[in-house]
Amino acid sequence: MRLRHITGSEDFVANSDYVTHDPENNKGRWTAFFGNDNPIRIEIGMGKGQFIENMAARNPDINYIGIERYDTVILKAIKKREAMEKDGVKLDNLTFISIDARLLADVFAPGEVDRIYLNFSDPWPKDRQANRRLTSPVFMKIYREFLKADGQLEFKTDNTGLFDYSLESIPESGWKLSAVTRDLHNDFSMNEGNIMTEYEEKFSAKGNPIYKLIAVQ
Ligand SMILES: C[S@@+](CC[C@H](N)C(=O)[O-])C[C@H]1O[C@@H](n2cnc3c(N)ncnc32)[C@H](O)[C@@H]1O
Repeated sequence: MRLRHITGSEDFVANSDYVTHDPENNKGRWTAFFGNDNPIRIEIGMGKGQFIENMAARNPDINYIGIERYDTVILKAIKKREAMEKDGVKLDNLTFISIDARLLADVFAPGEVDRIYLNFSDPWPKDRQANRRLTSPVFMKIYREFLKADGQLEFKTDNTGLFDYSLESIPESGWKLSAVTRDLHNDFSMNEGNIMTEYEEKFSAKGNPIYKLIAVQ
């Protein structure tokens, strides 16, 4: 994602009630944070937040945490959420965290997360950048530290290189693939209830097929 610096974005995010500041303090205590025992699902690299905000609106009995490392991008998710609230959609089951995914084991205790969503993750196409891919063994090892034993990871992309890589890197990391499609929008069972992300809308409008896999431990 090309980033434009937005003056004041750090302060804006730092002062937003939609963002959980010092999230490490909630490690092992996210149930208390949300005030219920509902499952906790996270999107890593939520971008401008369309997917996680719509998921939270549709599923009030599930708690959602959107993770994004750039405040310039989180700012846009906050603005979108403010607009939703003005339209009467209040999302008590959603919070955002401004953090790099590498640090997530400091934020979640073992078994605390029920599901991980990776949507249109940056492809990092050069071989020397492979460890930055969110489906690399480096990250799959981190996810294992806090995903429930029977939890799942769902990954969508239109990027053939990243998808092919992930079909190898995920099993190599000791995970199993429980479902795979190379045409999500025409796969009746896998597409059921699908919520499109900003990137998914953009790339499917160009005619790109959307790939999806589900991985379990
Ligand atoms: C290509 S965008 C996709 C955004 C959104 N998920 C969608 O599908 O529209 C990828 C996002 O992941 C974020 N991201 C990439 N690596 C990350 C990391 N290590 N930790 C947190 N966020 C990350 C980027 O900043 C960017 O906003």
